[in-house]
Amino acid sequence: MPDQLPRLLVTAATGQLGRLVVESLLQTVPASHIVATARSAAAGAALAALGIEVRIADYDLPQTLQPAFTGIGRLLLISSSKLDGGRAAQHRNAINAAKSADVGQIVYTSLLHASTTPLGLAADHVETEAMLRDSGVPHVVLRNGWYTENTLASIPMALQYNALLGSAGDGRFSSAARADFAAAAAAVLTAPDDLSGRVYELAGDTSFTLTEFAAEITRQSGKAVIFKNLPKADFKGVLLGAGLPEPLAELLAGSDEGAAAGGLFDDSHQLSALIGRPTTPLAVSVAKALQGG
Ligand SMILES: NC(=O)c1ccc[n+]([C@@H]2O[C@H](COP(=O)([O-])OP(=O)(O)OC[C@H]3O[C@@H](n4cnc5c(N)ncnc54)[C@H](OP(=O)(O)O)[C@@H]3O)[C@@H](O)[C@H]2O)c1
Repeated sequence: MPDQLPRLLVTAATGQLGRLVVESLLQTVPASHIVATARSAAAGAALAALGIEVRIADYDLPQTLQPAFTGIGRLLLISSSKLDGGRAAQHRNAINAAKSADVGQIVYTSLLHASTTPLGLAADHVETEAMLRDSGVPHVVLRNGWYTENTLASIPMALQYNALLGSAGDGRFSSAARADFAAAAAAVLTAPDDLSGRVYELAGDTSFTLTEFAAEITRQSGKAVIFKNLPKADFKGVLLGAGLPEPLAELLAGSDEGAAAGGLFDDSHQLSALIGRPTTPLAVSVAKALQGG
């Protein structure tokens, strides 16, 4: 860290990634230098209990953002979880506010290979990366790959039906645990050097197909699970039938389709280089999920 420790802010800190970033920061940074934002005081109470300052900020309410971002050296802008449109506008509000508040650096969580990926999810990220360049605010782009936890979510149903459904074909997932991506964000926020201008492609050290994922579930659970590949529309139908909202079903089926086209594969090892350790292997994540963790 620089001699003059900048105040660090994590947006969307009530979310799964944000909370892990805060926990990671607390390993090396005094709580007094960390600010987290939440959409309400009640939502932020657990963060406040960690001894950090919690400010209220909602990407949809520009008037909340500039006050929340005041006095901040480096700000982690965690991409919004809004899936039904308007996400880029939310990010614009946050970037404009950071600029007005004279934030020293924005660190943004984008998507792996955002500018070339076949994943439909990328459009908002490409737009946000362009906004960052146009803003003139120094920034770092963390192009996060697939969270292993997304895939682990299908384990209970796979065990129930002895089948893992998807439409990724033989596409490889270079996924990593959320905690790995969180550690990378914390490493950039606390870097002694100014990393502004860098674009990191962040992914796991190893990759797997859904056939290999099913085999890992079988190996660890002792229950035979096979992967059944479906056309995207059919897989989306299964997800809708299971009660998932339309935007989430589209996101998951569309991501599988993108994975089939190679969109979630990466072997650059930039994530492990940034965090100074290997990324969490699939077997470890599956074991944790099977233990209910
Ligand atoms: N790479 C991947 O595989 C992957 C997978 C899923 C998501 N993502 C992206 O990564 C982000 C973080 O993931 P996650 O797992 O931590 O998601 P998450 O647990 O759903 O958390 C989302 C966070 O965004 C906050 N948020 C939603 N709308 C907001 C708004 N209008 N203003 C301010 N904050 C708002 C939520 O606040 P509340 O607690 O108030 O709702 C929450 O803190 C997601 O938002 C999404 O963009 C990536």
